[in-house]
Amino acid sequence: MTKTLIIDGQTIPFEEGQTIMEAATVAGVYIPHLCHHEGFTPHGSCKLCTVKVNGRACTSCTFPAAEGQEVVNNSKALNDDRRKITQMLFVEGNHLCPGCEKSGNCTLQAVGYHLNMLDNHFPHFYAKRAVDSSHPDVMIDHNRCIFCTLCARASQEKDGKDVFAISGRGITKQLIVNSPSGLLKDSELDVTDAAAHICPTGAILIKRTGYQIPIGERLYDHHTIDEISFAVSGSRPSTALPPSVAVESEKD
Ligand code: SF4
Ligand code: FES
Repeated sequence: MTKTLIIDGQTIPFEEGQTIMEAATVAGVYIPHLCHHEGFTPHGSCKLCTVKVNGRACTSCTFPAAEGQEVVNNSKALNDDRRKITQMLFVEGNHLCPGCEKSGNCTLQAVGYHLNMLDNHFPHFYAKRAVDSSHPDVMIDHNRCIFCTLCARASQEKDGKDVFAISGRGITKQLIVNSPSGLLKDSELDVTDAAAHICPTGAILIKRTGYQIPIGERLYDHHTIDEISFAVSGSRPSTALPPSVAVESEKD
């Protein structure tokens, strides 16, 4: 017999071993997330996907689906918290969308739109972290890193390498590159690696591709974050979506 759980009053089926996030995505229920990406080991660090399961707060990307769970996802209280988390991410780094090449293709920005984030609310930290442009094809602007670890997981789980890691805690946390010099040019990273293309913000960028897709013709100029999330997970057909998303979906 099919096992089911309830999300916001809607009964949805799940398979043994699925997380709440996975079951929800297959059923077409969008749960906001940043550090989760279909096909990679869940990390549970951004907390954006927090839902209430039988009254208890849990990260849906890591919490196993179970028979009879009553899950609250799309509530004002949870979305208010998600907006605050997103605002904190914006002020902690330099996410200045109008001057960022990733604008329009940025998951962080699209999540901000989804959560109706109209300002940053908190004072800016004005981060002054290094920009590593030493690699011939890929650059890192550390000021835009939200420490989601997707590049580290992609490097290990898809590329069979170990190029990235997160070091430190709290305000001293930083993305580090595994190379003798600590610079990208001395690492194993290749421009074709999944790790070079997975970043949900403008922290990792491919050189000589800037503004090849004009503003106004980019992913989130025409698609909502939930639509793209379903396409990337493969739970909805991606034929109407741009080739970059279809390719990302196939990679998973
Ligand atoms: S560089 Fe991008 S993918 Fe890597 S941890 Fe930072 S935000 Fe995530
Ligand atoms: S998406 Fe679940 S904690 Fe980040």
